[in-house]
Amino acid sequence: MNNLLKLLVLGAVFAAVSSVEVRPHAAGSEQHEKTVREGDAVRDESVDNYITMVLENFAIAMRTGIPILGIPILDPFNISKLDLPTINTSMLRLEANASDLSVSDTSSYVPTYVHVDFETNAMYLNLHFLDIRVDGDYWCDGMAAVIFPVFGDGFFYINIMSIDSSGLGAVIITEDDHLQITELSLELAYDRLEIYFDNFLGGGDFGEEVNQAISVLADTIVQEILPLLNTAIIPALVVYINDALMQITISDIIGGGSV
Ligand SMILES: *[C@@H]1O[C@H](CO)[C@@H](O)[C@H](O)[C@H]1NC(C)=O
Ligand SMILES: *[C@@H]1O[C@H](CO)[C@@H](O)[C@H](O)[C@H]1NC(C)=O
Ligand SMILES: *[C@@H]1O[C@H](CO)[C@@H](O)[C@H](O)[C@H]1NC(C)=O
Repeated sequence: MNNLLKLLVLGAVFAAVSSVEVRPHAAGSEQHEKTVREGDAVRDESVDNYITMVLENFAIAMRTGIPILGIPILDPFNISKLDLPTINTSMLRLEANASDLSVSDTSSYVPTYVHVDFETNAMYLNLHFLDIRVDGDYWCDGMAAVIFPVFGDGFFYINIMSIDSSGLGAVIITEDDHLQITELSLELAYDRLEIYFDNFLGGGDFGEEVNQAISVLADTIVQEILPLLNTAIIPALVVYINDALMQITISDIIGGGSV
């Protein structure tokens, strides 16, 4: 996942560089070429700034929901039940589930990079989250290191720390001069987890097996939750940004109109 994040960021840097690239051209067209290039730079920046502002507003919309656009409350994002895949490694075999989950601070992001590349009709966006918190109840039962029973049942929380979300989208310009997103994918990568599982028992004398089991369980829960989050947030984000882009033409964004 980290590799993919790096790849997408690389892609974004490449696109930013290529849009100011000076191409070989005939001497006579030099002045014209220069004007077009400068025009592109302004156009990129004002559109990028506009979308950045819309992303900041979306964070507020996530906490209230926007019924008229069919956008539900996304912060907190509730999941009533999560069936987890059986964990089966050489060190651990564990059946588990989780319920009454509340995923909060999903709106606590800052847009760190937004760019629309009009030459390739691509949109790049990076969001940084300080953390996203998962609260819920869990149940698990299994064996660690072949011989130690491990089991638990109760409250848990997981703080997913320092999340970077890297997005790649496709855009079109409509006949009446509105930018619209047609596709968007988001990859989420995180640094580390802070975890607490109440009433998790078992293991050997020093409980090392319990710590490992908890850590694997937390990771499994996060791996199941992140795609659900993406599935809920991406369509809402696209609807929200497209709605905002329908309120203003690209010419008006560039002209510094009613932003
Ligand atoms: C999510 O769960 C919390 C806590 O249980 C609750 O207060 C809130 O109303 C729920 N939100 C939605 C959108 O269901
Ligand atoms: C767990 O893994 C072991 C070894 O790979 C395999 O023999 C066993 O069938 C697996 N059990 C389940 C329930 O998947
Ligand atoms: C989790 O699984 C256990 C064992 O199968 C079951 O008793 C419990 O009801 C399940 N919890 C939920 C929320 O489904």
